[in-house]
Amino acid sequence: MSLQEKLKKEVERRRTFAIISHPDAGKTTLTEKLLLYGGAIHLAGAVRAKANQRNTTSDWMEIEKQRGISISTSVLQFDYHGHQINLLDTPGHKDFSEDTYRTLTAADAAVMLIDAAKGVEPQTRKLFEVCRMRGIPIFTFINKLDRPSQQPLDLLAELENVLGIRSCPMSWPIGQGDRFRGVYDRTSKEILAFQTDGEANQKGRLGAIQVSGTDDPNFVKLLGGPRNDEDEAKELYQTFKDEIDLLELAGDPFNQELVNRGLLTPVFFGSAMNNFGVERFLQRFIEFAPQPSARLTSEGDVVEAFSPQFSGFVFKIQANMDPAHRDRVAFMRISSGHFERNMEVTHSRLEKKVKLSKPLNFFAQERVIVDEAWPGDIVGLLDTSGELRIGDTLCTPPAIEYAGVPRFSPEHFAGITIKDPMKRKQLQKGLEQLSEEGVVQIYRQRGMGDKDPVLGAVGALQFEVLQHRLKAEYSVDTKIEKMGFVHARWVTGEGYDADFFERREDSRALVDRDELPVLLFKSDWALRWAEENYKKLKFLTTAPEVRGTKKKK
Ligand code: G4P
Repeated sequence: MSLQEKLKKEVERRRTFAIISHPDAGKTTLTEKLLLYGGAIHLAGAVRAKANQRNTTSDWMEIEKQRGISISTSVLQFDYHGHQINLLDTPGHKDFSEDTYRTLTAADAAVMLIDAAKGVEPQTRKLFEVCRMRGIPIFTFINKLDRPSQQPLDLLAELENVLGIRSCPMSWPIGQGDRFRGVYDRTSKEILAFQTDGEANQKGRLGAIQVSGTDDPNFVKLLGGPRNDEDEAKELYQTFKDEIDLLELAGDPFNQELVNRGLLTPVFFGSAMNNFGVERFLQRFIEFAPQPSARLTSEGDVVEAFSPQFSGFVFKIQANMDPAHRDRVAFMRISSGHFERNMEVTHSRLEKKVKLSKPLNFFAQERVIVDEAWPGDIVGLLDTSGELRIGDTLCTPPAIEYAGVPRFSPEHFAGITIKDPMKRKQLQKGLEQLSEEGVVQIYRQRGMGDKDPVLGAVGALQFEVLQHRLKAEYSVDTKIEKMGFVHARWVTGEGYDADFFERREDSRALVDRDELPVLLFKSDWALRWAEENYKKLKFLTTAPEVRGTKKKK
């Protein structure tokens, strides 16, 4: 097989995605079940260990203890019927940070996991916005149908009203809570019966019963449940039938093109804990989710995944993964071509050659050297000289640069002071390096240079992380004082009067590291007021891309 044929085959069999959800929706549980299908059972244990430790996390030391595990699960790779699945872990819970958003820039699709009782929750909404910005396909898994749930039609309405995305149910639930009888697969016309006695579901062997359609005379007989209650079966069937008729009439049909553009989400119902509906979901996901797709360079050129030119970009940097070595690992998503260990590539921003001699994969607690990898894969690069930054492109010639990994607007803000004024230089250096890694963002007062910066973070815990690392790695003791702002927006457009916003009680006008204007707001109201009164301005949640950063070091 020629390299080109092999490349095509490897691209076609890969699916790289992330799960987006609010804490407690069941992401760990779903991940664990997905891994079981891939035969990666030893990893499933690691995922669970993380879930168990989660609640005890109260400070940074705890996070660091956990780190081995959460890092090891940065990417979970498993095979399923000849497909290679790369599941990117998006930090959630207390370690929710900009990394969570950035990871989505390396995914080709997202699985949106929703708790059937709670519907669309805030963290899901934020992550959804990032997916929408990228226009990637989103597949929805509505979980915990074995518990009292919202009405399924209401959940679909919520997707549309809160997220503004149309939906196409691929399966439909029959009953819920303790009257949950299973789901009807609309494509295969099968009833997947929910069995609570464990065995069948645990092994993923579902009672799938073929019917001729929802009018099948035997349908209702299959819904009697453990007590074989006829009245209950009729009632459940009637509700199901009314809903499904409505869907047939007024619902959106499946449309691959709209799914690909992220405008329509295929919806599945199930129960991750009971391993119910998970395998069917995985099968359909593989069928309808995209293989690694083309990417745009900052010049607007399209690079196809199966282009022979190797290229990849850094979307995440993690320092001190191994406290004994104080190392720095850059995570690179491969976008095109064939990756081989020891290959020499161009670092486009620095216009220099680098040799990728120790590419790593992270399995459980262990690092494994990668000999080769393909588009869609993620490899860790040991970056001892600190030359890699988030957004950097590495490629074989000619040099290209992918459109950058955006910076996302933080929601927590703080000022920072040092206890020992002699350490000002170390503080500067520490802040600069840690902000390049994306721990926090730094905003400055206009015309004030480095004096009294304002720090912004997506997750509040990031300030603790910053403080701890400044002390451990730069020997600087700091004091962090939270500020009462809740939104940051990059401002573009005509007629922006920074002084006006600086004078107001409820906003501040600052600049970011590229001197781009940023406004901080103290409340939702203050932001809305600005948006409504300054229609010529744009208030952006991600930083506008700065061109010509090529030579910047
Ligand atoms: P997360 O990673 O999204 O935060 O969620 P996680 O999987 O840890 O699940 C959160 C809780 O929801 C867990 O319960 C888990 O067992 C439960 N759960 C997940 N899927 C389902 C489901 O389909 N049905 C039901 N009924 N519960 C589900 P926990 O009590 O917090 O933890 P555990 O003691 O069960 O581990």
